Amino acid sequence: MTVLVAFATAHGSTRTIAETLACRLADEGLSVDVRSVNEVESLARYKAAVVGSAIHHGRWLPEASEFTQLHTAMLTVLPCWTFSVSSIGETTSFFGPTGTRLMRRLQPEPHDVTCLRVTIRPREHRCFAGTIERGRGGPSGALLLTMLGGTYGDHRDIDDATQWAHRITQGLGARHSA
Ligand SMILES: Cc1cc2nc3c(=O)[nH]c(=O)nc-3n(C[C@H](O)[C@H](O)[C@H](O)COP(=O)(O)O)c2cc1C
Repeated sequence: MTVLVAFATAHGSTRTIAETLACRLADEGLSVDVRSVNEVESLARYKAAVVGSAIHHGRWLPEASEFTQLHTAMLTVLPCWTFSVSSIGETTSFFGPTGTRLMRRLQPEPHDVTCLRVTIRPREHRCFAGTIERGRGGPSGALLLTMLGGTYGDHRDIDDATQWAHRITQGLGARHSA
């Protein structure tokens, strides 16, 4: 079976996570296409899909939302997993421990993701922390980072992505050959 890993990125960190997921799925014996959502016209040839987007300003990127809306019918039928890349992941965060706890409590799940849970009903939605470079989030982002004990740089947890890919393989009932 061929699995689609589709992503939307503004600054590249979601692409790397998508590529990591795709490599691990391939390591486990699956045929995988990793594509920007802008490059995918049809899902007809895929047997499963993993779709992810960066979160900017509290939302998935517009092209990711458009992709899921356009392909809702197929994504509902296929086994589907979704992921978001933002300031806070399941295992790592831009912020210090107290800031992370606070943001987990205060920052609502993006509306797009809440909608996906109802429409596409992914088998799992996973959150990963991404990267942040000085000057990228504007003055308000810089202030938030300082107040919450955060740091600039790469906060991605590649091991977590690897483990999640393994769970996807198991969910598909595919052979684990690694
Ligand atoms: C302009 C901008 C807005 C952002 N807005 C949010 C946000 O609302 N919530 C959040 O948790 N992270 C936010 N982030 C952090 C991004 O989600 C993070 O940098 C992620 O790695 C971006 O992925 P990308 O490199 O694939 O674009 C923002 C970053 C930027 C640069």
